[in-house]
Amino acid sequence: MNKDKNNQPRSKKFRSRRGFIGDLSKVAVIGAALPLTPAIAMPTVSEENGLESSENLFGLSTAPYLQNLTENSVDILCITNAKAHSWIEYGKENLELKTETYSDGFVQANNSLHKIRLSGLQANTTYKYRIASRPIVQFEPYDLVFGETVVNEVKSFTTPASDSDSVSCVILNDIHDRPYSFSDLLSLCGDFNYDFVALNGDMFDYQTDEKQLIDHLIEPCTNLFASEKPFLMIRGNHETRGKYARNFKDYFTYKDNEYYFSFKQGPVHWIVLDTGEDKEDSAPAYGEIVCFDQFRETQALWLEKELQKSEFKDCRYRVVLMHIPVFHSGDWHGTMHCRKLFHPIFEKFGIDMVISGHTHKYGIHPPSDEHNYPIIIGGGPKKNKRTVIQLKANNQNLDLKMIRDDGLVVGEYSID
Ligand SMILES: [Fe+2]
Repeated sequence: MNKDKNNQPRSKKFRSRRGFIGDLSKVAVIGAALPLTPAIAMPTVSEENGLESSENLFGLSTAPYLQNLTENSVDILCITNAKAHSWIEYGKENLELKTETYSDGFVQANNSLHKIRLSGLQANTTYKYRIASRPIVQFEPYDLVFGETVVNEVKSFTTPASDSDSVSCVILNDIHDRPYSFSDLLSLCGDFNYDFVALNGDMFDYQTDEKQLIDHLIEPCTNLFASEKPFLMIRGNHETRGKYARNFKDYFTYKDNEYYFSFKQGPVHWIVLDTGEDKEDSAPAYGEIVCFDQFRETQALWLEKELQKSEFKDCRYRVVLMHIPVFHSGDWHGTMHCRKLFHPIFEKFGIDMVISGHTHKYGIHPPSDEHNYPIIIGGGPKKNKRTVIQLKANNQNLDLKMIRDDGLVVGEYSID
């Protein structure tokens, strides 16, 4: 039999004549024991011969990754190496359900970055799922041709309980384009069981392209956890830089599609702020095309209202995740503007803890005359300065531990 370089049989069907809609799909079922991102030969179309097999392989550029996991929904994202139509097969016992993304009368297709929301889920329930994708080989107005469907490995996730009295998470910051740091730091977490990972800014130096996002963030995270546990991508000042910074949000999902948001999980009201750039908007490097003062002011107005919402009143703790800390971070504009806008609100509403990064100097700063809440700052990005933060909370206490990359616990803080 004719085989490609991955020893996959080439389908003779690729040579058949096209119909009005040449759906040549047949499912290539790839078992869990096979590689994470299986691929199959993708046909090409020529005027002379119609469909032909080729050496090109179609498959996923990234394993699926979870965003915005709530009690009853989750967003599953992945990137294919060619334009395709993708869907999710899922269920509690089997993969009996199927969903895809719809808008404006279209099923999402002819794209490579796929975002599919599963909704109507039950709280505190484990679901199995897998991504299925079929490449679009030709998209002519009356001649649409698909390649074979690739079905990927089955993964699972568990929705949070609606009345859970506990929550735990891992917080990383200031990785700065060092993808190996994800495994170096998460390997220190051992049997610490976490519900989600918060990436607290500056995962990159600046944004260049999709490949950088895949190689330096999505792939290391999916290799470790992100297909089964969600992460929050909290923007730092470095994520606002570079030619691809304006495409950055496409690769994640955010509540209300804003970089600042809050949510309740366990006994914690989590508040995420986007602290923007660290220098004035007028700094020459920004080319007069940023307006982070205005963005922070918008967030301060939002925050004051958010902290008064009745839906969060029964939360035992209020924890803020923000990249630039409001103290212990020098006196550049970003720090000072965040201090001016957010610090009075933190004190007024009794924030229990602020967790940041940015300074590359880890430290635990207890309440003081300057701030009546603790400020936790994770380190990075060089060896012996990198840290991973573990946080767990229940109705009795909130415990935070900061571990340096050599395994030494360099900070702890508890709220009883
Ligand atoms: Fe930073």
